[in-house]
Amino acid sequence: MVDVLVVGSGGREHAIGWKLSKSPKVGKVFFAPGNGGTKNNVPIQVDEIDKLADFAAKNSCFTVVGPEVPLSMGIVDKFNERNLGIFGPTRNAAQLESSKIWAKMFMKRNNIPTAPFEVFEDPALAKEYVKSQSYDVVIKADGLAAGKGVIVCGSKQDAFDAIDLILVKQSFGAAGKRIIVEERIDGVEASYIALSDGSIAIPMATSQDHKRIFDDDKGPNTGGMGAYSPTGVIDNNLAEKIQKDIINKTIESLRSEGITFKGFLYAGIMVRDGEPYVLEYNARMGDPECQPILIRMDSDLFDYLKSSADGELSKMPSISWKKQSAVCVVLASKGYPESYPKNDEITGLDMVDENHAVVFHAGTKLENNKVLTNGGRVLGVTALGDSLQGAIANAYSAAGLISWKNKYCRMDIGKKGLLYL
Ligand code: AMP
Ligand code: GLY
Repeated sequence: MVDVLVVGSGGREHAIGWKLSKSPKVGKVFFAPGNGGTKNNVPIQVDEIDKLADFAAKNSCFTVVGPEVPLSMGIVDKFNERNLGIFGPTRNAAQLESSKIWAKMFMKRNNIPTAPFEVFEDPALAKEYVKSQSYDVVIKADGLAAGKGVIVCGSKQDAFDAIDLILVKQSFGAAGKRIIVEERIDGVEASYIALSDGSIAIPMATSQDHKRIFDDDKGPNTGGMGAYSPTGVIDNNLAEKIQKDIINKTIESLRSEGITFKGFLYAGIMVRDGEPYVLEYNARMGDPECQPILIRMDSDLFDYLKSSADGELSKMPSISWKKQSAVCVVLASKGYPESYPKNDEITGLDMVDENHAVVFHAGTKLENNKVLTNGGRVLGVTALGDSLQGAIANAYSAAGLISWKNKYCRMDIGKKGLLYL
């Protein structure tokens, strides 16, 4: 048996640890720093890479990295140098996520389908370009901006404002030193996540996120207000196409450029007229997509993560999935994604048992045996069902048992998936 260290504190990390703890090969699961729902929390932050390595060495852990920040800082490179087992991409490989410009240039030179784009540092030139285009654009800060660096524009004026915000007011600091101006693609979005060992990539189940704060996809973007799996947006034919023309091509092209990508490769896909385009790559699992995906996974997650790290995925059978649907409803604090109150006491958690739904914690903390809110996205109530409708009903009936003063959730998670049944 091996002990595991899960790096991160969100719902994704709680779900990864929950699933790993079901493996007969896994002993203790530590979380750094974890949250109010995780046990064996270690008070080390995700960017304290040396301390994480010291902890993993001392406790002989296999480490699994959830979020992008430590990946982009080179946590995997550091662990490799020290011969410590770790799952995730190296810093070079994680550039797919940490530099949007790097990712776009990579896609362009390798013919991976994505929106046409140009890169700018000078606001005046960027505005000239916007004026000259016949289509609406999306403006993206180059670096990591906690999901806020992408502005989808509905008019030229929106685009000018976005350019000013990023390049003139420098609202995203160094992450916004350069921007991408790209064509806005109007279609249906879905998440395609695969697991790679650098040589091959095997698909995880498909899913769809709900990024906007309000029902019917209104309001500002968030980290994700809920997700379901599988999604009919990606049927078998489209999945095959994405796997071949996007995922496999990405892994092979990286390899031909000297980069071995081990880890979860997440392609944010826009489907327009049946054709998939990559909106963005992430070098990790999605949050909240991870929660409904892992609750459907029958295979042993540890075996797959270890095989990815060891470069031996080709020895593994394809992953087996429950036929059921799964839905994760994110319970947030009112005010998110802007400012929101903290320290509200959460009640009703003990009313939900795992046969009904699994409550993954995110922005929570445990104080004097009470669970308090401690973030914008607080809980991810995740349930299975024999149909998507059934999973939606199960997730919402469990979500209704939990309360706190400033609880907010979307009431339509999964609804857009019903269109594809
Ligand atoms: P990201 O933070 O990179 O996930 O982007 C945030 C959101 O912006 C995506 O989930 C899409 O909804 C939207 N988006 C990004 N690029 C485009 C594009 N070229 N066309 C339309 N929407 C886009
Ligand atoms: N849910 C989208 C993401 O994890 O980036």
